[in-house]
Amino acid sequence: MFTVAVLISGTGSNLRALLEAASSPDYPAQVIVVGADREADGLAHAEAYGVPTFIVPWRGSAARDAWGAELAEQLEAWQPDLIVLSGLMRLLPAAAVSRFAPRIINTHPAYLPEFPGAHAVRDALAAGVTETGASIIVVDEGVDSGPILARERIPVLADDDEATLHERIKPVERRLLIDMVRRIATGDLDLNHPSRTDPAAS
Ligand code: GRF
Repeated sequence: MFTVAVLISGTGSNLRALLEAASSPDYPAQVIVVGADREADGLAHAEAYGVPTFIVPWRGSAARDAWGAELAEQLEAWQPDLIVLSGLMRLLPAAAVSRFAPRIINTHPAYLPEFPGAHAVRDALAAGVTETGASIIVVDEGVDSGPILARERIPVLADDDEATLHERIKPVERRLLIDMVRRIATGDLDLNHPSRTDPAAS
């Protein structure tokens, strides 16, 4: 079975959707472990599905490299085929990325390369755009700069605030994520050559 490790920081609603999809016997991937940089509420979803969890606590930017090394060690112990960053609100150090690249993907609540970074929804609203989106990318050393695997447009409504817009984006993120993990697990999409199998990628 194709195995997935998921890293989160927050409520883990996208994680929960992936756990639910993976609990179907038809789904070609299994979530084997969920990690976090804090006591994230979303860890409860993993526990509800009987999936082991771990925490590597964030100890500040000065300790980023040590944090990344510890995280990578925890992940390596599980030998996952794929690592999904699903709302991990920390930038992985380059050394940690290179240990797994290109087998790390990230969900992002904007139509990349528009609005990279930790405040994508707020930034889209501040820019006054009429459309934003959701994206799934391969993680590289930069901030949301890796190859785009999938993305979809989502309208910004006149009365949207950050919370309402984000809640409309997340279901699209979930659908794209579940589909992408399926495609990677079945070999329909090769992370070493993503653009060959995804005509929408850029
Ligand atoms: C998602 O929009 C993710 O892309 C962003 O944080 C959100 C995580 O939401 N970076 P949740 O924790 O899955 O509810």
